[in-house]
Amino acid sequence: MHDFYSDTKTKPTRGMLESVLAAEFGDEQKNEDPTTMELCRRVAEILGKEAAVFLPSGTMCNEIAIQVHTKPGDEVICERSCHLINFETGGPAAISGVMTFPIDGAFGIYEPDQLREAIRPPSRYAPESRLVAVEQTANMGGGTVWPLEKLNAVAEVAKEAGLATHMDGARLLNAAVKSGIDAKQFTAGYDSCWLDFSKGLGAPVGAVLAGSEGFTQQAWRVKQRIGGALRQSGVLAAMGLYALDHHVDRLADDHALAARIASHLSELAGVANVLPAETNIVIFDLKAEAPSAPDLEKQLLDDGIIIGAFGERRIRVVTHLDVDTASGDALCQSLTRYLG
Ligand SMILES: Cc1ncc(COP(=O)(O)O)c(C=O)c1O
Repeated sequence: MHDFYSDTKTKPTRGMLESVLAAEFGDEQKNEDPTTMELCRRVAEILGKEAAVFLPSGTMCNEIAIQVHTKPGDEVICERSCHLINFETGGPAAISGVMTFPIDGAFGIYEPDQLREAIRPPSRYAPESRLVAVEQTANMGGGTVWPLEKLNAVAEVAKEAGLATHMDGARLLNAAVKSGIDAKQFTAGYDSCWLDFSKGLGAPVGAVLAGSEGFTQQAWRVKQRIGGALRQSGVLAAMGLYALDHHVDRLADDHALAARIASHLSELAGVANVLPAETNIVIFDLKAEAPSAPDLEKQLLDDGIIIGAFGERRIRVVTHLDVDTASGDALCQSLTRYLG
């Protein structure tokens, strides 16, 4: 199968698995796992923050950060298509008792002026705006890279209003590789941010949430409360370290393959439009006369290809470590068959 559903589908490589055999382990909850501590140190350095905490998933990073930054009844301002609104089962409401205020951006990115308008003035009746969140890259926007100036301007508007800032960095290193800008420049205006190891970096499990010493201590308390404290997590962290050493630069290959697929799609008669494919995500819409997205998903499955249908007309294709040029060729051939 050629699996383009998500970059979460990668399997650990042999080198990655072998790195576990060479790693040292201890009790992570007691800060005794040297491999996990090293991964946290590396991520804090990459993101330009004082400290970091290892977590099982990116979703936990978002949800723990929200809990630390807010109190019940507060409001989190973010873009309408973002992960924390759409794919975390209402976690901000269920776990932290907060509301989300969705901004309608373009390709997952919003303007500083839109944020200015979204921030509520003090009132006896309204929820309090407390936290501003961004997603770098913007997944459902088509893997779009927030320009550095816009991220800084958004952070500045938030800070002027006394709000905290959070960056979902599930694919932050894709943005860094694509733009040539250091990850820590992107995160400079953000109080909390994180990297996911189970996306383009190709590890099976794990994410690291970073911030100030004080933020990280509070994040640790929430991690413990919701059962996220781990034991010999070096088994996982070793693969994260391996990914940092071996799988960052190669993200450029994923971007090149995505660009090639996007360019092919833009020439097919059944495709209404293709979102700008800046990194490893290609999102496109099907014309009314073309098969529906769920039907196309089924047709491609018969050809041994997995893609993602989002609604009736929208498809997402994601490139990653486990799909190569030959997979891309197979995908393009099948798409031509059904949409050409
Ligand atoms: C933008 C974004 N944020 C957060 C997540 C959640 O990450 P995880 O699957 O590690 O919980 C995802 C997962 O796909 C994502 O795409």
